Amino acid sequence: MNIVLLGAPGAGKGTVAQELVADYGVAHISTGDLLRAAVKGGTELGLQAKQYMDAGELVPDQLVIDLVKERLAADDAQKGFILDGFPRNTMQAVTLDSELSGLGRTIDCALLIDVEPAIIIERLSSRRTCRACGHTGTATETVCPACGGEMYQRDDDKPETIQNRLDVYEKNTSPLVEYYRGQGLLKSVNGAQSMEAVYADVKEALGL
Ligand code: AP5
Repeated sequence: MNIVLLGAPGAGKGTVAQELVADYGVAHISTGDLLRAAVKGGTELGLQAKQYMDAGELVPDQLVIDLVKERLAADDAQKGFILDGFPRNTMQAVTLDSELSGLGRTIDCALLIDVEPAIIIERLSSRRTCRACGHTGTATETVCPACGGEMYQRDDDKPETIQNRLDVYEKNTSPLVEYYRGQGLLKSVNGAQSMEAVYADVKEALGL
């Protein structure tokens, strides 16, 4: 199972990925999570990435590509992976194809979680994320129900940044829908349903 998850910010990529990982044990490669960990750890990469992330802009390609290459080579990614948040533009998609081809691997499916912008703005404005384990919930949760950690609002979930993330998605990432359709790999699910219904459609689309 080598899957690319496509979808606008807040479409539900991370939520779906966590369910697939729990049920099928594949590796979850989320470039957003990897970058946030680098920021939290105060690494050189984190220092470089933070300004872009806070503004809702894409981090420079090479920084992200290096991260993904490292994760694809790790042991847990050998039996399958879910790429969440990568690729995010055509350059990253072409680089991914070439990297996988060098490893004798291919993408089995590019799965689009389709959600309209109005729903996304509502979801992201009220999203809170656990500082400790990354669990996501709503603004009513101040303590993480999974680990007891502190729930906070990501800097890029502030209203002024959400619209920019949507614009960046439209301009840079949405062309990948046609890119993967052209390769015969695209499948799409309606992400504006309950999480249970979305996940049932995801499993059906993936033949699981
Ligand atoms: P990243 O972390 O990838 O952010 P994103 O794509 O904007 O995705 P999100 O995590 O915001 O949303 P999601 O689709 O995972 O939705 P979720 O499941 O949480 O990237 C952050 C930043 O890092 C970027 O802006 C960029 O700067 C940088 N970056 C990352 N990758 C990069 C790359 N490849 N190149 C360059 N820069 C890169 O769901 C959202 C909320 O909705 C949650 O609260 C959830 O509980 C809720 N929800 C989900 N599904 C449902 C449902 N069906 N019904 C009701 N609520 C739902």
